[in-house]
Amino acid sequence: MKIDQPLTLLGGISPQHFMREYWQRKPLLIRQAIPGFKPSLSIANIKQLVKREEVESRLIWQDENGWNMKTGPFDRLPAASKPNWSLLAQSVDLHDDATAALMRQFRFISDARLDDAMISIATDGGGVGPHFDSYDVFLLQAHGQRRWRISQQEDLTLEPGLPLKILQNFQAEEEFVLEPGDMLYLPPHAAHDGVAIGNCMTISIGFRAPTLATLACGMLETANDQILANLGDLGGLYANPVIPGPSLSATFKDPDTDATTTPAALPDTLLKATVDAIAKVKFDKHLATRFLGQWLTDLPANAYFEPGNEDLDLTVAMPTTGKLVLDRCTRLMYRDKQLFINGEVAPIPASSRLRQLADARELLCGSDKATKLKQKELRMLNEWQLEGWLHHID
Ligand code: SIN
Ligand code: CO
Repeated sequence: MKIDQPLTLLGGISPQHFMREYWQRKPLLIRQAIPGFKPSLSIANIKQLVKREEVESRLIWQDENGWNMKTGPFDRLPAASKPNWSLLAQSVDLHDDATAALMRQFRFISDARLDDAMISIATDGGGVGPHFDSYDVFLLQAHGQRRWRISQQEDLTLEPGLPLKILQNFQAEEEFVLEPGDMLYLPPHAAHDGVAIGNCMTISIGFRAPTLATLACGMLETANDQILANLGDLGGLYANPVIPGPSLSATFKDPDTDATTTPAALPDTLLKATVDAIAKVKFDKHLATRFLGQWLTDLPANAYFEPGNEDLDLTVAMPTTGKLVLDRCTRLMYRDKQLFINGEVAPIPASSRLRQLADARELLCGSDKATKLKQKELRMLNEWQLEGWLHHID
């Protein structure tokens, strides 16, 4: 993607301009971000989708008792003629290729930040109430109309005791009616309230941002795995240590210890050995790469892969036409020579060929890069193909 070229999706500004001026800072209304947009899934398709166990969904409605929420799956839904209800299906990109492709239009932002595409359908008056989200979101109007009221208010106090987050004191500052193809970008903590005008469908491209606590705990867990892996045959969890890192297999020793009159007191020597042991673990960028690579490519529990084509062996007959395409659920990321796929560390380094596959999510079979794939790379791609993580498409 050309990050300095005007993009219709962003209302004619470039991705770079958007990132500098709006991202994480202020809302942006984009009329006809996708001109003539037609959603890949109909309202009826979404109603079918939320019957499935593996699709996370919520039904939200307002009645004389106030706000109500129920989680899916849903065999039955309120009548389409009944107003004031909304149904939200999470991570539709895991279940529908076209929705995954729509989400990829936003890959001027790192895969590390892109989260999922949620699709909501609503009847007249339906919505989730005035609230704020902790993450950035692009709200794409897919079908019918929705009235959005937004505010950059500081008061984010929530109504207590409700099943969903509702702002106690929402003071709208701006209001827009979105038509199909229109899109509204909201930074984290922008207050908003979207109410359907008639039957409506909205697609939310959502982002994720870990707390610093999550990052720190992730590093600690990765360090823990690293230490155990390096114990190897000396009682470690894994037969073949694969993670480079300090060896801490030596046993604590205290040959110069005096006899004690305070046997219940923790010994100084043991305290020092403990502090010295942890100081051997380097909390550096290598460890952070390993943690982030595995964690960010980890698959959600509801990701599903169709088994691959056993008749195709890329190591014997790499096709010369068509392309290799990552499955919509596959998560492939790299940093320098380290490559991570679906929560695992890839066994071979991230060559420029593999990095291109990760960035473009496809590799043209006759291309320069594809013809230069090494045998060990083809072996790995073939494994991915058999797992259903990668497909050959004619
Ligand atoms: C919706 O699509 O109704 C909810 C989107 C949001 O407000 O975050
Ligand atoms: Co929201």
